[in-house]
Amino acid sequence: MKISVIGCGYLGAVHAAAMASLGHDVIGIDVDEVKVDALTAGLPPFFEPGLSELLLAGQDRGSLKFATDISQVAGAKVHFICVGTPQKAGEFAADVTYVDAAVESLRPHLDTDSIVVGKSTVPVGTAERLAGAISESGASLMWNPEFLREGHAVDDTLHPNRLVYGVADGEPGKRATRYLDEVYAEMLSDSLPRLITDFATAELVKTAANSFLATKISFINAMSELCEASGADVTQLADAIGMDDRIGRKFLNAGLGFGGGCLPKDIRAFMARAGELGADQAVAFLREIDSINMRRRVRIVDIARDALHGSFIGKRITVLGAAFKPDSDDVRDSPALAVARLIATQGGVVTVTDPQAIDNASKSFPELNYVINTSDALLNADAVLLLTEWREYQDLDPKQTASLVAGRILIDGRNVLSPELWRKAGWTYRALGRP
Ligand code: UDX
Repeated sequence: MKISVIGCGYLGAVHAAAMASLGHDVIGIDVDEVKVDALTAGLPPFFEPGLSELLLAGQDRGSLKFATDISQVAGAKVHFICVGTPQKAGEFAADVTYVDAAVESLRPHLDTDSIVVGKSTVPVGTAERLAGAISESGASLMWNPEFLREGHAVDDTLHPNRLVYGVADGEPGKRATRYLDEVYAEMLSDSLPRLITDFATAELVKTAANSFLATKISFINAMSELCEASGADVTQLADAIGMDDRIGRKFLNAGLGFGGGCLPKDIRAFMARAGELGADQAVAFLREIDSINMRRRVRIVDIARDALHGSFIGKRITVLGAAFKPDSDDVRDSPALAVARLIATQGGVVTVTDPQAIDNASKSFPELNYVINTSDALLNADAVLLLTEWREYQDLDPKQTASLVAGRILIDGRNVLSPELWRKAGWTYRALGRP
């Protein structure tokens, strides 16, 4: 089937490559010429394991192309909307102008034999509005949220744990379902649940899922605050409560909290939209979730300053990690970089290292020092903060690391190191929610 994918960022580039790997003829459209050239060369403009291979395989088969010219979507039966919905400047609400622009640009290419499938995360009510905007063309609209995690995006796209089809009533909905079933035919099996809902439910599934994940993380981080106040250990607490399978251990890793391009902006957009719908009380707790999350960043700075006897001034601080999480080069709302900047503003001489995110970090925050090699970054540090749990930082040897630094102070912002091992090697080990 000929498919178009509008917007080739994290979501769209992966979706386009994954759909080509399922045997479709895919054209990816993006306004950014640099991005289109990179994707055409099989070079993802961001770090995502497995994506480059998928891009190259698609290009080799001749079934995957990227372009800036929207007229290249001509002949496609299914058009996926994968553009971003960032937080509006100065507001909590999501900016849906890219979604609107994508639909507008598609309109001349739509007919009764085509469908538009929204994948972007949008405020509830958007799909209903867009369905109206394209109704004249005879094309059907569907909302089919994605749940992919950066770093696992290829696998999450090709092996999702559920598919959600938000459709209109009657024949348009049935047609959209048939078309999308055809697109996903290779993935559909008895064990893959496929839920057919109305537009609003499909839109809410995505925001509700992200709100739940954010809540789970902030819940354990709130417990972390209590552990700090009482001398308990949040990692053992998480293990113990997570053994109850009604609770589950996943997403109960206490530490510096969540960041990235999704969870923070999605819970804020949800609060803004709930307010517009007169249901703000229903999600008022998300404000607290956001506050707990933000407090962790301040708390770790306090712990580090305390370990340095009350001041960062003139101290060399090495920050391990710049990406918002491991296996990603994404620094959007990165907790690690937020902490690095806070320490720098308090007089610390901050060096940041990361296996993948230095380019992006240095573009966003040129005021910090960046060093690629971990050992070089550690050299002569007065304190080391592990803020993004890349494998290589988890595997650091306390004795060897001690030979590089000036002061053996280690702050474990992700609770991934063994306090015993590091203390045995003469380090002052401090962490969030652990004695
Ligand atoms: C998230 C959702 O998981 C995904 O389903 C949705 O489509 C997009 O948003 P992503 O932003 O890629 O995906 O990251 P995720 O793996 O969910 O992690 C989000 C943040 O939470 C990271 O900063 C991570 O470090 C943090 N986190 C995660 C914790 O602090 N503790 C945990 O236990 C888990």
